[in-house]
Amino acid sequence: WRCCFGLLGVEAGTGTSYNPEMRQGLLSSICQVTGYLDDCTCDVETIDTFNNNKLFPKLNKLLESDYFRHYKVNLKKPCPFWNDSSHCGIRYCTVKPCPPNGDSGGTESPSYKYSEEASDHVGECEEAKRLGAVNESLSDETQRAMVQWTRHEDSSDNFCEADDEQSPDAEYVDLLLNPERYTGYKGPEAWKIWNSIYEENCFKPHNIRRPLTPLASGRVLFPGHAFYRWLKGLCVEKRAFYRLISGLHASINIHLSARYLLQDTWSGTKWGHNLTEFQNRFDEVLTRGEGPKRLKNLYFLYLIELRAMSKVLPFFERPGFQLFTGNENKDRETKNQLLEVLQLTKSFPLHFNENSLFAGNKKEAAKLKEEFRLHFRNISRIMDCVGCLKCRLWGKLQTQGLGTALKILFSQKLIENMPETGPSYEFQLTRQEIISFVNAFGRISTSVKELENFKNLLRNV
Ligand SMILES: *[C@@H]1O[C@H](CO)[C@@H](O)[C@H](O)[C@H]1NC(C)=O
Ligand SMILES: *[C@@H]1O[C@H](CO)[C@@H](O)[C@H](O)[C@H]1NC(C)=O
Ligand SMILES: *[C@@H]1O[C@H](CO)[C@@H](O)[C@H](O)[C@H]1NC(C)=O
Ligand SMILES: *[C@@H]1O[C@H](CO)[C@@H](O)[C@H](O)[C@H]1NC(C)=O
Repeated sequence: WRCCFGLLGVEAGTGTSYNPEMRQGLLSSICQVTGYLDDCTCDVETIDTFNNNKLFPKLNKLLESDYFRHYKVNLKKPCPFWNDSSHCGIRYCTVKPCPPNGDSGGTESPSYKYSEEASDHVGECEEAKRLGAVNESLSDETQRAMVQWTRHEDSSDNFCEADDEQSPDAEYVDLLLNPERYTGYKGPEAWKIWNSIYEENCFKPHNIRRPLTPLASGRVLFPGHAFYRWLKGLCVEKRAFYRLISGLHASINIHLSARYLLQDTWSGTKWGHNLTEFQNRFDEVLTRGEGPKRLKNLYFLYLIELRAMSKVLPFFERPGFQLFTGNENKDRETKNQLLEVLQLTKSFPLHFNENSLFAGNKKEAAKLKEEFRLHFRNISRIMDCVGCLKCRLWGKLQTQGLGTALKILFSQKLIENMPETGPSYEFQLTRQEIISFVNAFGRISTSVKELENFKNLLRNV
């Protein structure tokens, strides 16, 4: 990215003031993410131009279709790993009895007050509960159509194991009614989720500390030397795994900063960009050099999912393939829109060459594939521990989407050899895999676009 610094105004529209030096620091840290990315020969400028001008508008339109906006998900699974998963019920917001012989003279029946700690958090918790709730309403038309969708799925040759989707608890959610944005879900609990994803699922031994890990006691912040030495020593696939997770994390944080709750009063709510929040996550100095690395990982994730989009084209091109919602005209239109997007991804000039990835001998590749699958399944189970339902919804969607992208990349030969007609026994995608995959890519594409918006904001403040 070219860095041009505009005049250094100070006031942001929202009344928060930005110190010019900090702003310049942030711009330069965004601008550090430039040129060639590690592990692939593609440059960020090419991605920005391609995504922001060509792909993003088309993809966004596609995701508004009836087929892609309805995602079936089970949000009721209990967390399999630990008990206290509810931020607001348990730790902060419980109502504790007041100690006896208070100064109320003893005439009242035992009164209950929020404990001091709790009352600090009550507002916060109510906010988090409200903002994190999932709007489950569906139009009548959709509800009637859903019966047909299920019938259609049952009749297609779908023998992939799909534990979540078959559960009676799984329900369709309208994604457009539940945008991914700031929810107030943060602090120790959110940190715990990400920590267990990184610590236990990224092939990392316990004795190697991630940079900036806030330890519960002592708050020692580890510099990254040992960590990056370890990362460098990994085989390219495992390194890729870590970078994908980090990219996903970065993307989610970009959405939270770009759709922050700026104002919440009786006259209405206002959502928008919060530069301070963005800065806290990505500024080079404030994050001790981690910010630019996170952004690079976001681009890496973008390239992987883009590659999967371009590789899956033959699967959707088959004449008999339908994106079924029951409305024939609309379904045909949605399919054409999807094919157009996929063809566009194919035209991207500097594709990531995944031959360098997953290219070991056959036996090794199969082993890695299985390891990846298990780790992804585990990460998706960790998502069941996310206390905020809306965050859980998007977390599950994006892990399933990324898992599907990898499944596609691991199955290229099978996809190339698919029969034009008739069922494909070797390679299948379920409705939920298709929806999560395309929506997950939509999220990353939006993040790349949002970076441009942040850049413009920083220049123009
Ligand atoms: C959760 O709590 C139950 C009892 O309430 C206990 O038996 C179980 O071991 C706990 N699980 C974990 C993971 O701590
Ligand atoms: C859910 O979305 C519908 C449709 O936009 C809206 O009418 C309803 O008020 C929403 N419910 C909540 C609780 O926000
Ligand atoms: C799955 O994640 C949990 C919780 O973080 C962890 O205890 C467990 O070791 C992980 N299992 C695998 C196979 O990675
Ligand atoms: C922006 O985010 C910061 C936290 O990073 C918060 O303290 C501040 O109040 C937010 N600004 C607005 C206008 O909401």
